[in-house]
Amino acid sequence: MLKQPSFKVVFCALLALASLLPNGRGAKCGANNPTVRQTQLGFGNPPKFMVEVQNNCQMCPAIDIHVKCGSFSQALVNPRIFKVLGYNDCVVNGGLPLAPMQKISFNYSHHKFLMSTSTWYFQCE
Ligand SMILES: *[C@@H]1O[C@H](CO)[C@@H](O)[C@H](O)[C@H]1NC(C)=O
Repeated sequence: MLKQPSFKVVFCALLALASLLPNGRGAKCGANNPTVRQTQLGFGNPPKFMVEVQNNCQMCPAIDIHVKCGSFSQALVNPRIFKVLGYNDCVVNGGLPLAPMQKISFNYSHHKFLMSTSTWYFQCE
């Protein structure tokens, strides 16, 4: 019977192998979509939040990442990091690539804006 550590090693090796198979972008990034995470840093009035947008794909850069951002105000952040294009449409890093696993982050002080990624492209070749 396999001891647990060796099972883990085999499992990781299989995962690593699977990620190397040339099965196109879907297989390369799997379900590792870019994500937006918000962490509350300050509990004053207004509260303070840290926003982290991350490309969670380990193989491919992600470009043109759009985020549903409600009525987020451009005055709260440098547009090169996070540009408000319209209601509920913001673009990360000017649409330029986030490298595999790269994170871009900013802080804002305001009531919370709910955010989630909406569209992006993976550049797998
Ligand atoms: C956001 O605030 C945290 C905590 O004060 C700080 O560590 C971090 O550097 C800030 N991030 C930016 C992008 O200013």
